[in-house]
Amino acid sequence: MENKQYILKERPYGDVTSDTFHMRRVSMPSLREGEIMVKAKYISVDPYMRGKMNEQKTYTEPYVVGKAIYGAVVGEVVKSKDKSYQPGDFVQGIMPWQEYCSIHTEDVTRVNVPEADLPTALSVFGMTGLTAYFGMMKIGRPKEGETVVISGAAGAVGTIAGQIAKIFGCRVVGISSSEIKNHYLEHDLGFDETINYLTTDDLDYELSRKCPDGIDIYFDNVGGKISDTILEQMNFFSRVIVCGQISLYNSKEKNIGPRIQSMVLTRSMLVQGYIISNYYDEYPQALSDLTKWVQEGKIKSRETIINGFENLPRAFMGLFRGANIGKQLVKVF
Ligand SMILES: NC(=O)c1ccc[n+]([C@@H]2O[C@H](COP(=O)([O-])OP(=O)(O)OC[C@H]3O[C@@H](n4cnc5c(N)ncnc54)[C@H](OP(=O)(O)O)[C@@H]3O)[C@@H](O)[C@H]2O)c1
Repeated sequence: MENKQYILKERPYGDVTSDTFHMRRVSMPSLREGEIMVKAKYISVDPYMRGKMNEQKTYTEPYVVGKAIYGAVVGEVVKSKDKSYQPGDFVQGIMPWQEYCSIHTEDVTRVNVPEADLPTALSVFGMTGLTAYFGMMKIGRPKEGETVVISGAAGAVGTIAGQIAKIFGCRVVGISSSEIKNHYLEHDLGFDETINYLTTDDLDYELSRKCPDGIDIYFDNVGGKISDTILEQMNFFSRVIVCGQISLYNSKEKNIGPRIQSMVLTRSMLVQGYIISNYYDEYPQALSDLTKWVQEGKIKSRETIINGFENLPRAFMGLFRGANIGKQLVKVF
């Protein structure tokens, strides 16, 4: 049987290109006691992977040049050397970008949903949903009537974060790069207002028009100039959830922004970054709340799915061009 794998061919300097990746054929994995062979069904592409392509260690180890890229995968067990897993079971875990891999069962979790719902294990019930949940619940702490602004609003985390804020009775303003995305946010997800940051001449003015009472919570997915502008309009005792800085991930130079400390001081602002794994012990409660909200129809999950293992690089690079609405996934089999 054929087995394909993507490796990191070279570290990108600036934008990721197709030269960053190389697809190669590898042998089918062998199995040791306690392991399963997993056929990848859906592979998640995520902005944080850009950081792992750099040489420097951050909160996570860099990818190794010449070795497989890895990330979140949902797959089907096709062989098992663990009695508690049978062929046909679905599992998720951190696995290589590879059609078939072997993995110890201690490193996977079972996914008990029908095959048609597998994408949700990587979106609303995966890192995406958990990131939105903990950012909003632990740092944002939304209260009824507050104004919440979300950048990267039509992306995986942004769509869920906005819907959580709506559950708590907030007025939610989403920022994205297109009218199609903004239409989706307002008409399908119930966002109150949206702004297209690419077509507006004056983001500061648009924000003040759409947030007449100022901003109480800012869910920052993008950083850079968009965030610089938003921070100027934060209220007293406002909270800034620093979730991601995607607009800077491909920067070749160190980015110098405004000095925000005076603003933080005089407005008693809370500015807090976080990494989802900080809240690992609380995942069960978060998943229980997210499940309830999805069942009640309060949260809708959307995935943009590209077919074909060979399209993994294209799907990944698309994140930096805003090609996705909701969670970007690649369907392998
Ligand atoms: N803290 C954590 O533990 C954690 C966990 C997961 C994700 N994150 C972060 O959360 C953010 C969102 O992640 P996600 O998985 O939900 O990705 P995503 O939002 O689904 O995809 C990325 C989106 O970012 C926007 N974007 C790309 N380049 C941009 C630029 N130069 N300026 C402004 N917007 C840009 C695009 O939307 P537009 O078309 O609207 O531009 C694109 O669709 C990322 O920064 C990610 O690193 C953090």
